[in-house]
Amino acid sequence: MQLRLDQFLANCTELSRKDAKRAIGAGAVTVDGVVCKSANRKIPADARVTLEGEQLALPGERYLMMNKPAGVVSATSDSEHPTALDLLPAELARDLHMAGRLDLDTTGLLLLTTDGQWSHRITSPRTDCPKTYRVSLSEPLTGVSEQALVTGVELRNENRKTRPATVRRVDDRVIELTISEGRYHQVKRMLASVGNHVEALHRIRVGAIVLDPALSPGEYRPLTEQEIASVWAG
Ligand code: URA
Repeated sequence: MQLRLDQFLANCTELSRKDAKRAIGAGAVTVDGVVCKSANRKIPADARVTLEGEQLALPGERYLMMNKPAGVVSATSDSEHPTALDLLPAELARDLHMAGRLDLDTTGLLLLTTDGQWSHRITSPRTDCPKTYRVSLSEPLTGVSEQALVTGVELRNENRKTRPATVRRVDDRVIELTISEGRYHQVKRMLASVGNHVEALHRIRVGAIVLDPALSPGEYRPLTEQEIASVWAG
């Protein structure tokens, strides 16, 4: 759904439509970093709107992090397996969607929200949001493989190399891999392309949001104001 800029402003603030129009006309409002003086401008899903420098969010939006357990699907419905929404009380789960998906067997940081603009910032290939995974491997990672992961590898059935990534070695068979794309089964396919195999995959970070170590598998908590705002800052 797209709102007009004056409606958007009136929904996010105490301003009446008339005052919202006045603020827009006065140049106090930016859309994606550029002053917008047109009250009837349609605001797309991924637009970032500020009023006097303050980031605006539609009221009533919810933002959660969950430590996703294995065996739970990161989708809103599934005929075979429980979904992440099934782990939440119904009133909290209402209208939530996932900001990026994890495989059935992948564990760790899953972000859930009602805010489509916010999740778009995380998932859009255009915004380059880095995601860090702790990867347990079947074989020790060779120096050559590490270099290949960092500079970009070719995935099976694709002709475009992966974007540059970073690798931090935790031990012989465990690395932390940071990627800024979200291609299908990307981490598993990257490791397969260098002749290795992912035994376990756990997401620990999305942008500046780090999985809260206090959360056991299946537990969740609301994001803090800073965590929510960090997605717009990136
Ligand atoms: N890459 C994968 O291969 N699986 C995930 O769940 C996430 C990233």
